[in-house]
Amino acid sequence: MREPDDAIETVETSAFPDQRPGTSGLRKKVSVFQQPNYLENFVQSIFDSLDQRKGQTLVLGGDGRFHNLEAVQIILKMAAANGFARVLVGRGGILSTPAASCVIRKHGACGGVILSASHNPGGPDGDFGVKFNISNGGPAPEAATEAIYALSRRIKHFRVLGAGDVDIDRLGQVELGCMIVEVIDPVTDYAALMESLFDFGRIAKLLSSGRFRMCFDAMNAVTGPYAHEILERRLGAPIGTVINGQPLPDFGGRHPDPSPANAVELLRLMNGAVPPDFGAASDGDGDRNMILGANFFVSPGDSLAFLAANAHLVPGYAKGLAGVGRSMPTSRAADRVAAELGVPCYETPTGWKFFGNLLDDGRITLCGEESFGTGSDHVREKDGLWAVLFWLNILAVQGQGVEDLLTAHWRRFGRHYYVRHDYDDLDDATAETLMAVLRRQLPNLQGRSFGAFTVSECDDFAYTDPVDQSVTEHQGIRVVFSDAARIVYRLSGTGTGAATLRLYLERFEPDPARHALPTTETVADLAAVALEIVQMEAQTGRTCPSAVT
Ligand code: G1P
Ligand code: ZN
Repeated sequence: MREPDDAIETVETSAFPDQRPGTSGLRKKVSVFQQPNYLENFVQSIFDSLDQRKGQTLVLGGDGRFHNLEAVQIILKMAAANGFARVLVGRGGILSTPAASCVIRKHGACGGVILSASHNPGGPDGDFGVKFNISNGGPAPEAATEAIYALSRRIKHFRVLGAGDVDIDRLGQVELGCMIVEVIDPVTDYAALMESLFDFGRIAKLLSSGRFRMCFDAMNAVTGPYAHEILERRLGAPIGTVINGQPLPDFGGRHPDPSPANAVELLRLMNGAVPPDFGAASDGDGDRNMILGANFFVSPGDSLAFLAANAHLVPGYAKGLAGVGRSMPTSRAADRVAAELGVPCYETPTGWKFFGNLLDDGRITLCGEESFGTGSDHVREKDGLWAVLFWLNILAVQGQGVEDLLTAHWRRFGRHYYVRHDYDDLDDATAETLMAVLRRQLPNLQGRSFGAFTVSECDDFAYTDPVDQSVTEHQGIRVVFSDAARIVYRLSGTGTGAATLRLYLERFEPDPARHALPTTETVADLAAVALEIVQMEAQTGRTCPSAVT
């Protein structure tokens, strides 16, 4: 029913000081978002940052976590009061991050609001988040998030329509004030895009051959409906291939993070007596992926390199790659593939938003991060299920197992042993001081030796975007050693509590006879050097990491 214009309310509010988006949107505890006007202030700041919203289409959806439904209703009413012509909302308030990116691009929307705190835990005591993606389907770039933050600091009013809730469980259109709300199936557009990129016929043959078994763990997060539809219904994998396929507001009380530490059930299966041939998992909002073979873990940096080296086997990428992108802390395995393919490899700061310009400008086709993120120019987000389908397509063509294929890849390109150590729950001042001291020390580090390791290069990583020339500084400290080993130090930008120091350790091994060593053993010396350089124990009282990935 059409509401009269006077149902638009202008509500007085006062600014919150802490609405600066981090690596990926604004993430806070649910209780912070539940404060009166907190969500409204941020959403109004997003809307105010747009040049044009009158007559425009907005996309809206989230990963189904606690507070998702309440937030969707609030945002719909705010969109109606702010002049949007149409909002495309996923049924039940559901849209994975890559699906939202796909829908924005396909329907020419001016942007999208994605409700997610990615892999962070959910539930009333967990985290909530709001991300804004622009018309190319990708995360708002730094300049845009800073503009939103600036607006949030001086906000005085927000606009909202006084109206009842919209039924978002039924597909179709309804009017909300002068705006149309179109409830869309969250899977349809995304599944069609996947079918256009991959050889579904060939993958279906593999999955129904009886010689190949796979397991996909949706971690009770958003990819459940996508995986059921694509893997089981369209590709004919046996029912039961997808586990934990029901999205739950608290992700079943688990961390929806596809890493060996969190995907416990999948890991047990893949390391069991009769493991499936292929295992995979995705995170809260569906943009991350973990790839496993039988008793075999594929490091995300290797996965990116492997996909790049085999992309010509996949229909959507058969014409070749324009280039490859990786975030700075990600292993340099992809660089070697790019060099052999004769295409550029770009090194960007952490966070998917830095790939946007490179993808839009046609400079890269594939990109990835060490944090279980891989993607391509098909959308402007990393994409969990896409990576799984990419692997399946290659497995179907090559007819070999994950371990055999990856060890062959190492024989050809050499192996980058890689591990990330996280030091969680540091107080902010301690973490900032550690980084500041290290930064000051950089001029003296060059040429210094630590046991067998001699520093050949070190810097505080700064990035100049080759497309718009914008400069982003202080993106982590790189210490490179002459024997192709590297340590990177950086502080996390996605936490909602105390600080996390991330330590990224990498060693290159060209000799195939040394490709089957345990990673922990291979990087042990380097880990000790990493602690020595920052005097970890003296500075933080810590002697070992809280998490190893
Ligand atoms: C983490 C990852 C980063 C990723 C981001 C959002 O950010 O390290 O690669 O883009 O989550 O998924 P961080 O907490 O390190 O700032
Ligand atoms: Zn995510």
